[in-house]
Amino acid sequence: MTSAAGAQQPTYRGLRGWLDAVDKLGELERVLGASWDAEMGGITQMLTETSRGTAPAILFDDVPGYPKGYRTLYGQLSSIKRIALTLGLPLEYERKVDIVQRYHARMSELKPLKPRYVNDGPVFENVIESDEIDVLKFPVPRHHEADKARFIGTACAVVTKDPDDGWYNLGAYRSQVYDGRTVGCQITEGKHGRIHRDKYFARGEPMKVVILCGQDPLLFMLSSSPLPEVSEYDIAGGLRGEPIDVVRGPFTGFPIPADCEIAIEGETVPGQVKPEGPFGEWMGYYSDDTQDRPYVNVKTILHRNDPILTCAPQHKPVDETGLLKGIAGASQIWQALDACGIPEVLGVWNHEAGPATRFTAIQLRQRYPGHARQALHVACACQGGAYAGKWTVVVDDDIDAGDLDQVLWAMCTRFDPNVDIDLVQKAWASKRDPLYLPGNFNNRILIDACIPYDMKLKGTFPKVVDVSADLRGKLRAKFPKLFH
Ligand SMILES: Cc1cc2nc3c(=O)[nH]c(=O)nc-3n(C[C@H](O)[C@H](O)[C@H](O)COP(=O)(O)O)c2cc1C
Repeated sequence: MTSAAGAQQPTYRGLRGWLDAVDKLGELERVLGASWDAEMGGITQMLTETSRGTAPAILFDDVPGYPKGYRTLYGQLSSIKRIALTLGLPLEYERKVDIVQRYHARMSELKPLKPRYVNDGPVFENVIESDEIDVLKFPVPRHHEADKARFIGTACAVVTKDPDDGWYNLGAYRSQVYDGRTVGCQITEGKHGRIHRDKYFARGEPMKVVILCGQDPLLFMLSSSPLPEVSEYDIAGGLRGEPIDVVRGPFTGFPIPADCEIAIEGETVPGQVKPEGPFGEWMGYYSDDTQDRPYVNVKTILHRNDPILTCAPQHKPVDETGLLKGIAGASQIWQALDACGIPEVLGVWNHEAGPATRFTAIQLRQRYPGHARQALHVACACQGGAYAGKWTVVVDDDIDAGDLDQVLWAMCTRFDPNVDIDLVQKAWASKRDPLYLPGNFNNRILIDACIPYDMKLKGTFPKVVDVSADLRGKLRAKFPKLFH
């Protein structure tokens, strides 16, 4: 669909509408009979790790021990086509950075739209309270073989409310199951949900939460994106060009998508902690091990009939979130480069194997001495690029930032270790990093892999060995069978 302003918008509605659209694209795999115990996670990794962005979304049903129809969905956003569908962008792209550019352009012109409260919705088909509460009525997976517990929240969206000005944040924060009525909620320092929780706890107050664990993939994508302090509900509404319909949670009063599959309401209480982890982490290690963390006392479960539990375990690259983080985070970095007035940015990509901001490449057309270095420092320090970064690389306009071979070639031929490196110390880190520093900092490296500006200006850098555009065109026309 195209709006009056010319912007494209998602046309599907809700997770079920999204699944129908994905099925039509031929990107939905149905698997019957896989166990919740490491099999679903294992199958997803094996179908995704070498797929280079072509892995299917995987819908598991007939899970042993569970009623038929109680499904799990993995790999929602492991193909560019499905990410484009989710964002309402064109489905085909020549280069990976082209979708980042389209998404970035869409976000730059976005007008957030607040959610619309409605009185009823399919999420109220089942309302479970008091003694009936049991989150293990769903086929909650143990995703990785060395996870000690089952995790109900991975591709989730945790709704929290800022106690000062009342805005609702949605963040994808993992949720371990302790028992049917008690689940975890691991929120890292600096994340919006953590800032909210720290504020409540500083006042000695409990914090209410809703954990959505089966929702429109657009909400999951935004929940796992490094966005500014604007509710993801409002951003999703703006992207759709239509507000998200929400009901009020019976316990929290928080907005819950009316067509959501599963919503868990509860509260965390200051001083109440339980050992959390270990869990196979996004950097590909069982880092961070077990720590005491606040947990959630479950007060209500809402769910649709035949609910779909959405999952996104991470593991050594490439995992099902590699592309998602590549696109969502890169668009935010591009936004920041624009906001800081850095001209001529042609592409940004967070490489899937990094994963994400662990390896960011920026492509630009150098206009002045220091231009490349300026882009590096902004990209590594802005909100979208700062968390847990490691390598930030800037390349020239003739290098495709999304093509690792080309980026590596630039690093090997246009970069002098003596002068083209800057180091950033005591940066915002993650304990998921095997090399995080005491105090939870990390150090990171900025690489200027652009042709030295004076050589570019004087034309003294050697000419690239390449087939010219003119000859390419002639050869395509003359030998069509070779280049179809
Ligand atoms: C599948 C997946 C799982 C994630 N799990 C966590 C987590 O357990 N804790 C956390 O702090 N961030 C986690 N993240 C990252 C956050 O979702 C991300 O940083 C997001 O920007 C947080 O939202 P916020 O900026 O509104 O706080 C996860 C991301 C993905 C894609």
